[in-house]
Amino acid sequence: MCGIVGIVGNTPVAERLVQALKRLEYRGYDSAGVATIHDGRLERRRAEGKLVNLAHKLDAEPLAGTIGIAHTRWATHGAPTENNAHPHFTDGVAVVHNGIIENFSEIKEDLKAAGATFSSQTDTEVVAQLLAMLLRAGLGRREAMHAMLQRVRGAYALAVLFQDDPSTIMAARNGPPLAIGYGEGEMFLGSDAIALSPFTNRISYLVDGDWAILGREGVHIFDMQGEPVQRPQQIASATAFLVDKGNHRHFMEKEIYEQPEVISHALGHYVDLLENQIRPLDDAIDFARISGLAISACGTAYLAGMVGKYWFERYARLPVEIDVASEFRYRDIPLSPSAAALFISQSGETADTLASLRYCKELGLKIGAVVNVRESTIAREADAVFPILAGPEIGVASTKAFTCQLTVLAALAIRAGRARGTITSEQERELTGHLAEMPRIMSAVLNDIQPAMELLARDLSKYKDVLYLGRGPSFPLAMEGALKLKEISYIHAEGYAAGELKHGPIALIDENMPVIVIAPHDRFFDKTISNMQEVAARGGKVIFITDAAGASASNLETLKTIVLPHVSEIIAPMIFSLPIQLLAYHTAVFMGTDVDQPRNLAKSVTVE
Ligand code: F6R
Repeated sequence: MCGIVGIVGNTPVAERLVQALKRLEYRGYDSAGVATIHDGRLERRRAEGKLVNLAHKLDAEPLAGTIGIAHTRWATHGAPTENNAHPHFTDGVAVVHNGIIENFSEIKEDLKAAGATFSSQTDTEVVAQLLAMLLRAGLGRREAMHAMLQRVRGAYALAVLFQDDPSTIMAARNGPPLAIGYGEGEMFLGSDAIALSPFTNRISYLVDGDWAILGREGVHIFDMQGEPVQRPQQIASATAFLVDKGNHRHFMEKEIYEQPEVISHALGHYVDLLENQIRPLDDAIDFARISGLAISACGTAYLAGMVGKYWFERYARLPVEIDVASEFRYRDIPLSPSAAALFISQSGETADTLASLRYCKELGLKIGAVVNVRESTIAREADAVFPILAGPEIGVASTKAFTCQLTVLAALAIRAGRARGTITSEQERELTGHLAEMPRIMSAVLNDIQPAMELLARDLSKYKDVLYLGRGPSFPLAMEGALKLKEISYIHAEGYAAGELKHGPIALIDENMPVIVIAPHDRFFDKTISNMQEVAARGGKVIFITDAAGASASNLETLKTIVLPHVSEIIAPMIFSLPIQLLAYHTAVFMGTDVDQPRNLAKSVTVE
């Protein structure tokens, strides 16, 4: 993870670098740092913890200089201390890095044997030390950069400043994204286009193996062999978005309440609401002919994929393989090239998901990407891109991206069903009619349940462990509820298939373990209620999330019953996401945790 940024400017850059880092804080916030060159000297300020600590340091000890690089860190090698914070300096070379240098120990040993002494525990410092050693050996800066890149292995986005050259930043990419921004007599570098959006929307992206030399008037890009290459300039859409909290306390709250609006954008893109049919899709994947679908993703995106599996199998009779991306390619799944593969990722940069995509590509499968960031690596490497149109999601805990991913997967499953002749045009009309109801129902639910969720959160915050249960598509939702709660409130929570309870976890049930049962009144309801009975019989406290029919069909005593409107089966996962998001949010707020930037996490996970 980590975010990096650089400016070759013609006015002082320190403040602008911090402004850009603010937009990259979603990538990590263990420490931050800035380096500039002023009067022929490299100088830096670094601070442990959130960016605000660095900003205070810069207020107390400002940095001059019209060229600089900066970094916000998600620690991989070495504790999140100031000493391990980037930029790393060695003999007039400053480096910021996103990724992991896999052969750093071997390089470090060689450098130590040649007399180098290290001042941090990071893998990154070997880059600065290696460059310094190559310069001492008589190489020019450009040759040293090229030679360093030949030696390091792993995933990196790098930005380098040389004290002796106050007009140039060098950069390289192999894995994590790196965008070049074009200004008027200034050039920019950043981990994404949103970071650069206050300065420019003219962007080009380095591809893996590229390295670049940025000066005030432009950029020279080279491939691994050192041959010049051109990367097309494009206008980034990121500038169109205002990234602020509006009237909300947290980005997460804002993003929860934005769902009716962003889902209507997604619906407008995928559904012809006049004809009640799915619009024609990118035809790089021929759903009528594929033999199966392999879905791979991480975290919340994976759980969206699990709901999608139910839909593709039910509506399109398409066999689906699904696994978390970090395991997917180790299973040696016998995948046929006649199958297609679908990768789901909000950021479009998740390293494990990208590695699975490349694995499937090598096997000859057609690749689809369900992404939020259209300029992302996953989108660029896919044959067919299905944008979720959620707008920037800043809160580390995913909310609106999840429901938009679900919306897009539902639309794809219906479209696939029509293409394969497994649903009729009448069924398509009915299903899309239900999808179209979502924004209205979501608005009403968000308004109605908010006070109850806030009260319930106060109760929930007293517990140390919570169990979530669901059946059918509510099973992945139970896991998503548990994931949301644990990542922002730090309460231990697990999501289980309701029917699995009796095979082990039931041993945990007592009055100290609330059980949240997600059960719309659908074809799975009666069985789920039996599982709820099993909990109640053992003194477990049940929080029951259901609809009016479900509430009246059950006479069990619950700690709390949350009643949602009755909705059709296809939109239930999106609607029932709202109470679990609000419950996690209010519990975390009540407990006083850092809701938008929970400890140890980052929004874009670019290491495997
Ligand atoms: C949890 C969460 C993560 C992400 C996961 C994948 O709230 O946000 O579990 O879903 O890290 O990220 P993307 O979707 O960017 O690939």
